[in-house]
Order: sequence, then structure tokens, then C-alpha cells
Amino acid sequence: MAVVAGGREVLANLVYSQEKTHAPFGGVVPELAARAHLERLPGLVEEALGRAGVRGSDLDVIGVTRGPGLVGCLLVGIGLAEGLATAWCRPLAGVNHLWGHIYAALLTRRDLEPPLLALVVSGAHSDLVRMHGHGAFEVVGRTRDDAAGEAFDKAARTLGLGYPGGPVLDRMARAGDARPQPLPIPSLPGLEYSFSGLKTALLYRVRDLGGLQALDPGTLPDLCAAFERSVVESLLSKLDRALVAWPASEVVVCGGVAANTLLRRRAAELLEGRARLTIPPLDLCTDNAAMIAAAASHSVVGRDLAAEPSLGW
Ligand code: KG4
Ligand code: ZN
Repeated sequence: MAVVAGGREVLANLVYSQEKTHAPFGGVVPELAARAHLERLPGLVEEALGRAGVRGSDLDVIGVTRGPGLVGCLLVGIGLAEGLATAWCRPLAGVNHLWGHIYAALLTRRDLEPPLLALVVSGAHSDLVRMHGHGAFEVVGRTRDDAAGEAFDKAARTLGLGYPGGPVLDRMARAGDARPQPLPIPSLPGLEYSFSGLKTALLYRVRDLGGLQALDPGTLPDLCAAFERSVVESLLSKLDRALVAWPASEVVVCGGVAANTLLRRRAAELLEGRARLTIPPLDLCTDNAAMIAAAASHSVVGRDLAAEPSLGW
């Protein structure tokens, strides 16, 4: 739950983490996630308004994630947002979650404006997006199977690292070396990604090494580093290709996986001298409400709010 001023300034940004709820199951349990939304959201509304020092009726617009996402969570969020919009007589803007991730970059750099090229990497998406203007998005590349974050989560599970996998694997990879146990770098023609083969390659490697229990303690960080390297190099090779096809002066790397240490470093190296790179700080990379508020705010600019009570992208 967040309050953002002028689409660019974060006044409050609260995240209720459900990691502890889902960790025992090794992944998100949709029903538990929806119930947690129902229990937590009303209190978070009060808290966010209090921290920002505003009243609900002061708001210009109420933004809410309209999808993609878990349907139960979306229903709870949209139901609450519709109720608040009605109670406070404010317009409602439904926001695409992925476009929200791109807006995290506009919160990071106040002078950043489209056109730009974005790599959106999350638990469910690995998309290359050309943003032509506010509300004008064109997906030019995507994954044909697993998303990058999903690949990290599954690899972490294969390596017995638990949930959530991406951050744990990132930490473990920092102590490893990608060279002793190299894994293939997925490479499809065009701008398509594929990570399911890499996931299988890791599984076979662990099996060939005698299974997880037999792994030398030094090998686990090396496997993490090798897996991370393959995902990151694959992500960036297509970003490079997209940038050659559509030269852009502004490039954004965003979404939960943009919190990855190696991706942040290698993206900066790739774009050095070619384009200006914006990667949001870690708390704006992983899911948060400020990015949705920023997108909602930009979605109503220049529109007649009285004539269109329900807006958004
Ligand atoms: O955008 P996000 O917070 O939620 C979705 O919209 O899916 O992305 C979550 C994904 C998870 O798969 C998580 O493992 C991954 O982002 N992730 C990371 C890191 N932090 C989060 N992956 C690699 N390295 C990280 N440091
Ligand atoms: Zn996300």
C-alpha cells in the first residue's frame, strides 16, 4: 500500500511480506495469499495514509493492480479499491502489473521519460518492452516457458536452498565461481527466452555429482554462480539484440529479478557508453505498491476524470 505524489515522489510505501506464510510450502499458496490480502489491506490503507499525512478524500486517483497475478489476490485488491473509490468519490485506475514495474524506474529518476527500452524480469515474466510513451507499451520479446524469477526459484529448490529462491541463490552465488561447473547459456533465435532447459541441465548436473547430499560444500556456491551467470547472460544477450534493433537512449531493467547482484553489474557493463541505464533500488524492484501508484497517476494525466470514473491501462 503506497501513497505517491505527482506520480514521482514516494510519500509512503508499505509491504506486508508473506514469506513466512508460504515458506513451509516451498512456494506461494494462492488461497493463503488471498486471505492474507483480505486481512492486511484495510490496516495498511490507514497506515499508509497516516505516514503520508493525507486523507483518502485528498487523493487524485486510486490505483490498483488489475493483473496479471493470482486471481484471488487481484479480486481482494480490486474490491477494496472500488470500495475506497466509491467512499471517497475518487476515480479508480486499474494498472497492469508489468507496466507498474517500469514505473518503479520513473520513481527512481524523476527526469526519466519515455521513449525507453525495458527488460521486465519477475517471478512470472521475462519481457522486453518498448515504451513509446505513457500508456503505450509494446512487448517485443518474452519467454516461451519459465520466467527468469521462476527459473531462480526452481534452481534454488533443486539445490535445497528453500523459498524464496532468488535472493538466497544470489547470496550463495557471491561466494562461488561460475567456471568450475559451467552450465549452458540458453540461446534462441530472435528475442525469445527459454529457461526450462537450463533448469533441467542443473538437475542433471546435481545428479551427475552424486546428488545433493553428496555435494562438496564448495560446489554448491559454484553451481549457484554458474546458474546465475547463464540466466543473466541470456537475459542480457537479448537486451543487447533489442537495443541494436531499436536504439534507445534510455534503458530500464526492472522487476524482482532486477534485484540480482550480477544482473545489475553486468547490465551496467553492457550499456556503458551506449544508453543511460536505470535500475530501481532493491525495494522498488520487488513487488511494491508505489510503482502501481506511479503508473496510475501517469495514466490519468490529460484525461477528464469526471467523464471517466474508471481509467488505467
Ligand atoms: O516482481 P516480483 O517481486 O514478483 C512478481 O511479480 O513475480 O519478482 C519476484 C521474483 C522471484 O522469482 C524472486 O526469486 C526473484 O524475483 N528475485 C530474485 C532476487 N530477488 C528477487 N532473483 C534473483 N536474484 C535476486 N536477488
Ligand atoms: Zn512483480
